Amino acid sequence: MSSTIALLLIVVSVLFILGIKFLSSPKTARKGNLVAAAGMVLGLLILCNGNGVSAWSHGWSFNYTLIVIGTVIGLIIGAIGAYSVKMTAMPQMVALFNGLGGGAAALVASLEFMKGAHSVEGIKAFIAVAMLFATLIGSLSFSGSIIAYFKLEGKCEKPITFPGQNIMNGLILLVIFGLCGYLTVNSGASNATIAFLVLAGLALFFGVAMVMPIGGADMPVVISLLNSFTGLAVAADGFAINNTAMIVAGTLVGSSGTLLTLLMCKAMNRPVSNVLFGAFGSSGAAAAGAGGPAGTVKPIQADEVALLLAYATRVVVVPGYGMAVAQAQHSVRELTEELGKRGVEVQFAIHPVAGRMPGHMNVLLAEANVPYDQLIEMEQINPSMDRVDVCLVIGANDVVNPAAHEDKSSPIYGMPIIDADHCKTCIVMKRSMAAGFAGIENALFYKDNTRMLFGDAKASLNALVAAVKAS
Ligand code: TAP
Repeated sequence: MSSTIALLLIVVSVLFILGIKFLSSPKTARKGNLVAAAGMVLGLLILCNGNGVSAWSHGWSFNYTLIVIGTVIGLIIGAIGAYSVKMTAMPQMVALFNGLGGGAAALVASLEFMKGAHSVEGIKAFIAVAMLFATLIGSLSFSGSIIAYFKLEGKCEKPITFPGQNIMNGLILLVIFGLCGYLTVNSGASNATIAFLVLAGLALFFGVAMVMPIGGADMPVVISLLNSFTGLAVAADGFAINNTAMIVAGTLVGSSGTLLTLLMCKAMNRPVSNVLFGAFGSSGAAAAGAGGPAGTVKPIQADEVALLLAYATRVVVVPGYGMAVAQAQHSVRELTEELGKRGVEVQFAIHPVAGRMPGHMNVLLAEANVPYDQLIEMEQINPSMDRVDVCLVIGANDVVNPAAHEDKSSPIYGMPIIDADHCKTCIVMKRSMAAGFAGIENALFYKDNTRMLFGDAKASLNALVAAVKAS
């Protein structure tokens, strides 16, 4: 590899690292996307130059027309997808894109392996391991992400389990590892291609078998994990075809995906093993704690809430999954603007796993132009919740459930929550007494300082806006 190419690949790597850094805050996230995209374009141009990169050194004919056609098709599909996707369908889109990334990484490794497997001397063991790893992990990520996509679309949402499932999966893994070992030392053997195809097929099947037993609502965690797998597959490809930028980009995606998975599990107070093997959401997995909460539910009307809000000094909004379902983010912004005009201090308390995907609430509120400085993270806002006059819980349930602190038998015991119950008056906006994702009752609804404003969140908020304006 020439030193200019090596230097440019380092520039690409730096652009990727900066991109990820900028993505860590909503204020700089757009810039982060652009910087990382610039890195990708530069990487592609270097690839087209091809000077000294190993993929070309072992005899690929380089077809620029195909590269241009592939890039243009990718651009068109990506742009149409990004512009047309509904905010609520974002997790599906991420699943699909991640799956395609994993599939592409597996294809690159497969082609390289097939080519080398026919050579007399075979493939060096280290390179063969990288190729087999990329094929295995990339294929698994591809098929797993497709199943995750369908689960998020509401198809086969329930965990699909059957007796002996773990033994079957264990056996498949054993065969996969056996084939990997065989191919590492026998890549030049006459049956290497057959063995490789069997390995790729089993890896695809394993991705399906791994995701099927997991409930639809756990898919964001699964996608994040599969995303880290795709990253690792790309990094392994980088070793196989001697491309530094792919090694760096893949490692970045792999490590950030792993960290995000761990963060989400921590915020739900569930180990990763419970997400992968716990079949959360199947019957009995999230049964309510014994006895249920004590007290009575006290409904309230929109005009009464409007009065409380209009004369409050400090209001905190806790958004949750129901706000996303109702697409109520614009109505929330309208209400908070109206309160702001009256001198009420308004903040949003953001729980890390509110909604159904990482950053779900931040994305929705940013779409509605809620100022970033009004979004306060759970750890920062909790200590001052007892100085809040009115806490508006909009379509949130589990993330404000005091059972996480009070009920040791609860499946969410130990999960960090937003202390909505500490405020002076808590208004919970939802349609019924139905449970949230964890499937358990919420003691907050029965507390003395809680009032329930029943109805679709958007309709209730519109009624509140009108009532506040009229008050
Ligand atoms: P949930 O606990 O799921 O509660 C959402 C509530 O919204 C429901 O109780 C529902 O009650 C209400 N709702 C639904 N549609 C509504 C509408 N149109 N108008 C008003 N209310 C509506 O949500 P949460 O508090 O945001 O907690 C998130 C849960 O998802 C946590 O348990 C978390 O662990 C889990 N989870 C999150 C993630 C990520 S990354 N965010 C990933 C996996 C799992 P009604 O039906 O009575 O209206």
